[in-house]
Amino acid sequence: MDSADLIALETARGAHNYHPLPVVVESAEGAWVTDVEGRKYLDFLSAYSALNFGHRHPRVVAAAMRQLGRVTLTSRAVHSDQLGPFCAELADLVGLERVLPMNSGAEAVESAIKTARAWGYRIKGVPDGQAKIIVARDNFHGRTTTIISFSDDPVARRDFGPYTAGFVSVSYGDLEELRSALADPDVVGFLVEPIQGEAGVVVPPAGYLAAAAAACRDAGVLFIADEIQSGLGRTGATLACDWEEVVPDVVLLGKALGGGILPVSAVVSTDEVLGVLNPGEHGSTFGGNPLAMAIGREVVAMLAEGELQRRSAELGDHLLSRLRSEAPTSVREIRGRGLWAGIETTADAGPARTRCERALELGVIAKETHATTIRLAPPLVIERDDLDHGIDVVLEVLG
Ligand SMILES: Cc1ncc(COP(=O)(O)O)c(C=O)c1O
Repeated sequence: MDSADLIALETARGAHNYHPLPVVVESAEGAWVTDVEGRKYLDFLSAYSALNFGHRHPRVVAAAMRQLGRVTLTSRAVHSDQLGPFCAELADLVGLERVLPMNSGAEAVESAIKTARAWGYRIKGVPDGQAKIIVARDNFHGRTTTIISFSDDPVARRDFGPYTAGFVSVSYGDLEELRSALADPDVVGFLVEPIQGEAGVVVPPAGYLAAAAAACRDAGVLFIADEIQSGLGRTGATLACDWEEVVPDVVLLGKALGGGILPVSAVVSTDEVLGVLNPGEHGSTFGGNPLAMAIGREVVAMLAEGELQRRSAELGDHLLSRLRSEAPTSVREIRGRGLWAGIETTADAGPARTRCERALELGVIAKETHATTIRLAPPLVIERDDLDHGIDVVLEVLG
């Protein structure tokens, strides 16, 4: 079957819950993918940061292959020789104590919500059923029923109610609004993306994360950083919170934690917070499986060396400075940090989608988010020449 046949089949028989670019990938390596006709494309999206280390990174593939020959799945009915080391190594990487492994990002967010509520009732002393979690407007934390309950994207919510109660929204970046919401003694957590990815790589004002974390500490509220898209090297640091020297009470990781091979996510926190969970209160058949843990350990080992973060910071400076100095007048704003950029075009410049389709024709995969934003997230392993080639194409389609 050629690309047209495969797209027609997927359209006819799959649910239409995505609007993919018209390319059918058959194989991939590093920063490049190849379609079924043999045409090569530069991947400037990296599966929304799930491919931070590129496609089929040799170290991650080797770790997966080793584990495939040993044991892949146990369930949590028994122990495995991979789970404990993964928890210790990941917790050490982010400067925390304990890990709850899950699979998808949304599951990590759900797990954090449950854990924060249980911490609120059992440690903070919030009256039963009253716990509240503060979230930011324009957030994106996943697609489950509870998570869409505190989204303000009408497309994500419409016709999926009734919604879960217990969430309070504040404007992203507004400290005063956060401080007044924190005055409510029933608040147990503030769930926030250190940089809002899906909203278009929105970077908060300098100092916001540090001040928000301090305000949470003063109020006895958990600062919960959703680093599922921003973490693991994307911004040029292990965590985006590192830029403000914030160690959150709870860090949520996913996407790149699976090395581009498997869904692997985690809640990373303290003994006090994750210690509230008891057997039977939470779990997942696949969460913490030995194959996922072996892959996650290799990802953690790679990041512990620091080279990928340095590369992301250095190439990211190059990406952002070229975009800022060469962008045409159709561009209103360039936001970003590390190898992660949101290009905001003017409303009269036409849909961002059309520009991404044009970039695809020129051999670069980039994806719009909302009507006027193009998000770029090249793999951290990209060669500098390839990065420049991709930037040339993006500038051409913006012009
Ligand atoms: C910040 C953030 N949190 C959570 C999620 C949900 O992750 P998943 O799609 O693996 O459920 C995403 C996905 O884009 C995300 O960007």
